[in-house]
Amino acid sequence: MDRVGNPFEPGAGTEPPELTGRRPVMEEARVALARTKAGRFEKSVILIGLRGVGKTVLLNRIQLMAKEAGYLSEFIESPEKDRLPDILVPALRRILLSFDTKEQVSTVGRAAWNALKAFAKGFKVKVGDVEVGMDLDHSRGTADSGMLERDLTDLIVSIGEAAKASKKSIAILIDELQYLKEPELAALITALHRVSQLKLPVILFGAGLPQIALDHERFVRCRDILGIDHNLRSLREQLGGRHLGGDRRHRDHGARRLAGSCGPF
Ligand SMILES: Nc1ncnc2c1ncn2[C@@H]1O[C@H](COP(=O)(O)OP(=O)(O)OP(=O)(O)O)[C@@H](O)[C@H]1O
Ligand SMILES: [Mg+2]
Repeated sequence: MDRVGNPFEPGAGTEPPELTGRRPVMEEARVALARTKAGRFEKSVILIGLRGVGKTVLLNRIQLMAKEAGYLSEFIESPEKDRLPDILVPALRRILLSFDTKEQVSTVGRAAWNALKAFAKGFKVKVGDVEVGMDLDHSRGTADSGMLERDLTDLIVSIGEAAKASKKSIAILIDELQYLKEPELAALITALHRVSQLKLPVILFGAGLPQIALDHERFVRCRDILGIDHNLRSLREQLGGRHLGGDRRHRDHGARRLAGSCGPF
């Protein structure tokens, strides 16, 4: 094997030169992004697959697609120990800060900041400056019940309304969803389902191990991300005679060897 010429480099989350076999899921993501932005009903998407099959690189690529489509986006890797509010509040805050000042102080902008403040306070999230420059009256009754599912829905809906009013779209990407506790994942999915119903311009792309096997298929689109055996045909097509030459048997052999060097697909 020509190791210098081999375009595939093993390594967690490293973008390979070709996202072999991922065209259908990328096309699905492109359509979901376009529909969400246009205010059409669309579900959030969760990529499910074993370790090393390529979920993170796919999520990264989807974030790039979202940015190219004009989305505000945040990529969150859910760490083993943190709670959902701890990882979500800073990301949502960054999104709100990227609205311009006029948008931030508009009625819906203020409502979104208030919801974020109430949520951060209710769930004791330590983002020291969550309130900086935004010391507004606390509108009671939004995102302050102390119940995660309800408050998260209020929060994401408020932010979605602010985005809609400012003609912005938001993509949230969360990797390693299996680290969330089941009620947190359920709350997240309920919140995203609500923004879908309201056709607000917010979409989540998540990824996780098969253990998150969801009961939530009604609310989100779950996509199985399969490994190289399933990708072999398209890998062979893309490599074709281009790199490997020879007859089909040789190409298959070459494709398998390349695949082997990419880790446990
Ligand atoms: N479609 C693909 N074609 C070729 N190489 C790929 C493809 N997808 C991923 N890879 C390569 O496989 C390796 C693992 O990818 P990645 O880290 O995205 O997997 P993962 O599913 O997120 O793994 P984990 O569950 O451990 O986080 C990386 O080296 C990446 O470059
Ligand atoms: Mg990963």
